[in-house]
Amino acid sequence: MANKVALVTGAARGIGLATVNLMLARGWQVAMLDRDAPELDKAARGLDDAMPFFCDVSSEEQVAETIPAILGRFGRLDAVVNNAGVAEFGPIEQTDFAMWRRVMDTNLDGVFLVTQAAIPALKDTRGSIVNIASISGLRASTLRVAYGTSKAAVIQLTRQQAAELGEYGIRANCVCPGPVRTKLAMAVHTQEIIDAYHDAIPLNRYGSEIEIAEVIAFLCSDQASYVTGQIIASDGGFESTGVGLPALRS
Ligand SMILES: NC(=O)c1ccc[n+]([C@@H]2O[C@H](COP(=O)([O-])OP(=O)(O)OC[C@H]3O[C@@H](n4cnc5c(N)ncnc54)[C@H](O)[C@@H]3O)[C@@H](O)[C@H]2O)c1
Repeated sequence: MANKVALVTGAARGIGLATVNLMLARGWQVAMLDRDAPELDKAARGLDDAMPFFCDVSSEEQVAETIPAILGRFGRLDAVVNNAGVAEFGPIEQTDFAMWRRVMDTNLDGVFLVTQAAIPALKDTRGSIVNIASISGLRASTLRVAYGTSKAAVIQLTRQQAAELGEYGIRANCVCPGPVRTKLAMAVHTQEIIDAYHDAIPLNRYGSEIEIAEVIAFLCSDQASYVTGQIIASDGGFESTGVGLPALRS
């Protein structure tokens, strides 16, 4: 394991940074990608076996420069974790095209671009891809016309990657987190929304960054060597339930 290399996007904080730390603890080397340079440098400081790469995953040019830079530094690539994401919520009629594009640029185009650029290196290692979607890609909800649609597309893109890349030994899977108290979520979750999630989730709470990272790290690992094309919710049971849970509780 000592020489295996993972690329994690959106690595400066939140679920991405938790994934970096867990994979380092498991013996991986990690290329940390983010477009927030100061946060990325701060996050990478003092981490042995990790290297920050400033990269906006929605920029074809920056992605095209970054993958060779990673290979130049580490010599190989065994896992790609497409975690970078943005959340902007609004009703359909108030979601202007600029907002729609900002969400699609990072959440969907970024996954496409980074993965496509990494395919030659992943073929060499028979590596794996883990895309981070969301429960908002599994179930529709209010205000998520752009965000939810981008995440549903990531789910389909994962299946597409698994179907096309399996013959090279490359696996592709998708993790759909439930709510986690990161900067992304707290910017769009009011107290009312937090209470509603607690009500609707069988485990009755938000998840933590590390609980999501554990699923990501498993899917990257050899323990998941026969798992591909799978969409796995790490969501406290949210997706499995329908109406009536709060009533049954009381
Ligand atoms: N937190 C939640 O409740 C939750 C729930 C479901 C899914 N998710 C998904 O998990 C992933 C991580 O979210 P988080 O909550 O840790 O968010 P976060 O905002 O804490 O971290 C996201 C990181 O991605 C980086 N980033 C954003 N756009 C980028 C781009 N174009 N290029 C490079 N870096 C970029 C940001 O700078 C930031 O460091 C996202 O894809 C998000 O949609 C989060």
